[in-house]
This record gives sequence, C-alpha cells and structure tokens, in this order.
Amino acid sequence: MKAIIDVKLKTRKTDFIKCKTDLLAIGQFSDTKALDKLSAELNTKLNGAIEQLFKLGDFKAKQGTTAIVYGNDRIAARRVLLVGLGDRKKATLDTVRKAAANAANKAVQMKVETLSLALHRAFGGRFDLSAMGQACAEGTYFGSYRYDEFVTESEDGRLNSLSVEVIDSDSEKTKKLDIGVARGVIIGRAQSYARTLANRPANVINPQALAAEAKKLAKTIATLTCTVFDEKQMAAKGMGGVLAVGSGSKSPPRFIILKYSPVGKTASSRPRVALVGKAITFDSGGISIKPANKMDEMKLDKTGGITVLGTMKAVAELKLPLNVFGIIPSAENLPSGTSYRPGDIITTFSGKTVEVLNTDAEGRVLLCDGLAYAVKQKCSIIIDIATLTGACRIALGKYMAGLMGNDEKLMKQLQTAAQESGEKVWPMPSGDEYAEEMKSKIADLKNIGSRWGGACTAAAFLRQFVGDAKWAHLDIAGTEMSEKATEYTTQGSSGFGVRLLITSLMNLAARKNK
Ligand code: BES
Ligand code: MN
Ligand code: ZN
Repeated sequence: MKAIIDVKLKTRKTDFIKCKTDLLAIGQFSDTKALDKLSAELNTKLNGAIEQLFKLGDFKAKQGTTAIVYGNDRIAARRVLLVGLGDRKKATLDTVRKAAANAANKAVQMKVETLSLALHRAFGGRFDLSAMGQACAEGTYFGSYRYDEFVTESEDGRLNSLSVEVIDSDSEKTKKLDIGVARGVIIGRAQSYARTLANRPANVINPQALAAEAKKLAKTIATLTCTVFDEKQMAAKGMGGVLAVGSGSKSPPRFIILKYSPVGKTASSRPRVALVGKAITFDSGGISIKPANKMDEMKLDKTGGITVLGTMKAVAELKLPLNVFGIIPSAENLPSGTSYRPGDIITTFSGKTVEVLNTDAEGRVLLCDGLAYAVKQKCSIIIDIATLTGACRIALGKYMAGLMGNDEKLMKQLQTAAQESGEKVWPMPSGDEYAEEMKSKIADLKNIGSRWGGACTAAAFLRQFVGDAKWAHLDIAGTEMSEKATEYTTQGSSGFGVRLLITSLMNLAARKNK
C-alpha cells in the first residue's frame, strides 16, 4: 500500500557507541538520580551534554517528551534522542511501546532515514526481552504511521521509507529481542493496514470495495479464505438486518466472511472463534438523520469491521492454532426513497423480529445478523467490535473501549489482553434490566431503549443474538480515532482493537487465563 511509509524493521547486534545511525534513541526515567550505564557512557563521549540537559532543567524525562543531543566524532550516531519514560515505578510494557512510538514519530518529522532503538536498556531486567522487542516494533509502526495518500501538493513532502533497528551489544539479547520484534512487525503492519482502510473516505470505500479488499487479502495468504454474500444471496438467507440498513444506498450491502484455518491434522479440533465487526462505510443516520456538525467522522463507522480484517491478517501471519472466523457485515446508512424507516419491522437472520424506532441505531441491526451467523457456524467464542454508541464515548471518553459480555472468564481474558496491548477497556453492564428496555410490544425487540445507559442497552440488544456462545462486545466509539496528532501518532484512525484482539487470540491459543 503506497499510502504507508515503508518501515523496515530488524534487530542488530552492534556496539552502541559504534552504531552508525541518523538517530539513536535511548530511554530516560524522570525519577532516577544517576544515569544508567549506556547513558553514562554516551554522556562521557558527548562531553557531558546529557547530564547538562538534566542539570539545566531543559529535559525532565517526563513521558511524552524528548530531547536531542548532536553527535560528535567520538560516537558514530549523528544524533542521540533522549526519550522520556516518566516515573520508573509506573512503567509498564506500554511505556516501552509509547517510547518507541514517540521516537518513530520524531524520526518521520525529522525525515531521518535510519533510526536505532536502544530503549529497552533503561528497563534493565524488568520485562521479558522478547516482550520489549514486540512493544518496540508495535510502537515503531504506530508512531511512524501517516495517512496522506490523497495529498498531491505538499510543501516539503514526506519520508518514503524508514529503516529502523532494535540494537544491543549482546547477541544473546538481540536473539531474544528478535523473537518479539518478529511478532511486533506482523501486528504493527496489520494495525497500519487497518488504519489506512479506516481513514479512506466513503466515496473511496463502499461495501463492495471493502469486500474486494477482504478478497485481495485472502488471495495473498494460503490459510485465509474469503466468501462474500451480495444483496441477492443475503435476501435468500434472510439477512434482513443488513439488508434493511443498506437499503437506502446505491452501493448495496455486503456480508463478508474471512475464515482462517491453521495448517495441520489437528486443525478441526481447535476452538472456533468468531470476530464480528461493524462496517458501516458511512453513517448519516439514515431517515433519522444526524446533525451536520462532524458528520464527516462517520466515515470511521466501518472501523470495527476493518479492525477484524486487520486482525485476521495478523492471525494468519502468526499462524495461530485456532479456527478464526472474521465476520464483517457492511452497509452504507443513507436516507433515500428506498431507505428503511422508523416504524418498520424487520425479520433478522436469527428469525427474531425487530421494530426499528431510530434508523441511526443501525449498528446493532446489522451486527445481529453477523452474530447469528457466527452462532450458526458453531463458534463457541464470539467477540464483536463496533463504533456502536455515542453514549459509550460520553461515558468513557477517548481512552478506553466499553467491554460488555455474558462470560466472566472471557471478559477477564480481554481485560488482561488490554493491559498487555495498551489498548484499554472498561467493563460495563448489559444484563436483564437493560434487555428489558429493548423489548417491543409489536415485535420481539426494538432497536432503541430509553435515554439512559445507551451503550448498555445497545449491548443488551446484541446479547439476544449470541445463543449459548461465550460472548464479549467492544464498543470503540470513543477510541476509534485521535482528533489531534499527539507525540505518539498522527490524527485520524487509531487502529484501536487490532493489538487488543490479536493479543487476546494469542493468549487464547496459549490457553492463558482459560
Ligand atoms: N455510529 C454511531 C455511534 C457513534 C457516535 C460512533 C459517535 C462514533 C462516534 C451509531 O450508529 C449511532 O448513531 N448511535 C446512536 C444510537 C442512538 C440513535 C440510540 C447514538 O449513539 O446516538
Ligand atoms: Mn448510527
Ligand atoms: Zn453507526
């Protein structure tokens, strides 16, 4: 994809002082008195410049801050980037990931061609080296990501490629780091892939175009297959939910199924997991139309589905020993003479009927067919991900996704994955009280509840379609994008969920927390 800066990442054994690079990144904690071994060594070669930065108070090593010291003839690096890690006691693997993101973001801003990361050194033996390698790789892709495929006139252009290396002087260490780097490269690239697809506007990606992307992905990976139902096939199967939501657009809806099967004789005995993602390529609200302000953001309403697509890519490349279905119902929610209307009663794929009271509560109407399809495929674990409710954004803000579900263990498992991946979740209820609000007098369900607890009633609606499966629901309406660029990344799609889902699946494959 030419839209993405070509980041080449590897691990290399090299002496730190002799490392020839445009930018050598090292980490600094804010609450340590003395410089660590590597910093002290560099400081000596740099005639005390690092010490001086701290002494003068120009750099306090707070998280998110950086400082540059220029090289001299005593070190091979042209510049040393000091990356603030904040409080040592508070450090987690996400501190490593964020530091790498910050460094990579700076490297792109400065348009350097080579970046060498020695960030892990500051942490000593605190974290597993391969986990740090993975975090460095994920952070590198996250921080260097840019979206500019439609910019034809830019003043000073941007970097086309960046060579990054995770370095250490000890080959035992680089070996361990490299195991994680390899994983992190797969995950980081999958996340960037998802971000680009999510960032593309609705006139570029409609449901058919998304289906074509899924097919294209499956073509490049032998263990992935892709099936797409068009509107006629959906009608024949009775997928009334997806069809209703898509009925107002000239671009017809699509039901996309990616299937990953691991290689080997025991493949069929592996657990069957479904990831179900909402892919509304544009959400105008339909007949219950949204206000104009910020409606452009609704091109990101396909993010859940695209997160599933990105995760499936990583699942296959990591060769996880699980059977994974990626189920992506996709439609465009527009008002027209053929749109579904408030008051309509539709029959969904499950057979349950739904009274539509607001066409803007379309995500659940579409997702319920995806969930019922996963049940039909005998998936014992179902995780759905969706930009489902403004209410979730209001409740949790932009830092955490809402986590609902019907199985304590699965929810715990996702909370663990959230901690490890740095993509945070917060548990919210979706039980009987909320389900009660979703009952209709003239159909089985209605598609909106009362004014209160909108994220919870939406989840309670979905819960009716998962049968006996263990189910978790992620509402990413608040976390899907960054409104502004930060020190860690550019604005637009955040790719939230790819790291979380793949970590969860990796843990499931390793039977952690099971
Ligand atoms: N896609 C929106 C939810 C959303 C809002 C995502 C803001 C990201 C940012 C969803 O389809 C929607 O419109 N939900 C309605 C539901 C309501 C009509 C019950 C909402 O949240 O207002
Ligand atoms: Mn909507
Ligand atoms: Zn929506």
